[in-house]
Amino acid sequence: MLEKLQTLKTEAISAISAASSETTLREVEVNFLGRKGKLTEILRGLKDLSPEEKGKLGKASNDLKVELEAQIATKAVELQQAQFGKLAESEWLDVTATGEEALRGRLHPITQFIEEAEKVIAGLSFTIASGPQIEDDFHNFTALNIPADHPARDSQDTLFISGESDRMLRTQTSSVQIRYAESHKPPFRIVVPGRVFRKDDFDACHSPMFHQLEGLMVDKDISLANMKAIMEEAVRKLVNPEAKFRWRTSYFPFVEPGLEVDMSCTVCGGKGCSVCKQTGWVEIVGCGLVHANVLENVKIDSKKWSGFAFGFGIDRMVMLKHQIKDIRLLYEGDLRFLKQF
Ligand code: DAH
Repeated sequence: MLEKLQTLKTEAISAISAASSETTLREVEVNFLGRKGKLTEILRGLKDLSPEEKGKLGKASNDLKVELEAQIATKAVELQQAQFGKLAESEWLDVTATGEEALRGRLHPITQFIEEAEKVIAGLSFTIASGPQIEDDFHNFTALNIPADHPARDSQDTLFISGESDRMLRTQTSSVQIRYAESHKPPFRIVVPGRVFRKDDFDACHSPMFHQLEGLMVDKDISLANMKAIMEEAVRKLVNPEAKFRWRTSYFPFVEPGLEVDMSCTVCGGKGCSVCKQTGWVEIVGCGLVHANVLENVKIDSKKWSGFAFGFGIDRMVMLKHQIKDIRLLYEGDLRFLKQF
């Protein structure tokens, strides 16, 4: 009989440890300790034994019962913990996580560039100014020394507000030079980032809406050397620290002398490509010393004060900074492009 108990014990212990779920463990429990269970049967049979045997076997069977109950309880806890562990893995949730990457917005490369430019140029003691995108003839042309019959108007294919000869979409941010100077006394230094509009094609190099960054500094004894230092510093910081420049004389009615500055093409490294029209150089800015007529038009004494002005083409600078070959990419809103910045 004792041997039978021993075999039962081995059998029960291996069944308990093999149980892989709470259900199978419960089956093992019923199988050994349930009303019709194997150990219960032995316990029931005790009554037919001699008192001596009953004592011996009774104790052994009870001990076994207690031991099996304890083992089953321990196993049940183990199985439960394993199940929670799995749940923690499969139902894992980080309530502090931010939204999905794809849904997070970001600034357009042009906006990024403007913000950066504002920081860099503000660091050179320039104030940021702005003006309206719908302009009148005086601010967009006449006050800038471009009178009604001036041929320079032809090169700025102007979009007029229909039916209104004196209202147009500004063709240049230079108009803000006038607006600012009308309401401020020199000395001052301003930069004006903003949109401008021209009746233009929409192809790899042109867009009817683009961006300029105008600069104006009016003070005493301003020279081209001041302008060169400030502009080269700004472009190196904003576009490329290695940038090389080519200064050429040019003509703009509101400056005298007038200059254009080319920057070495960063798209092809100077070898020649579609962005630099195979020349290795890209024109990025028009500039010069403010024409006396412009100062007088805004009631600044041109004998006392002088100034320089510049107008950067922001879109071109963004293209050079990021080696973008087609201006249309900046305006098509294609996420595959925009996500790269
Ligand atoms: N407004 C000119 C344009 O749109 C660019 C320009 C040239 C701005 C010379 C200036 C300047 O301030 O001095 O073509």
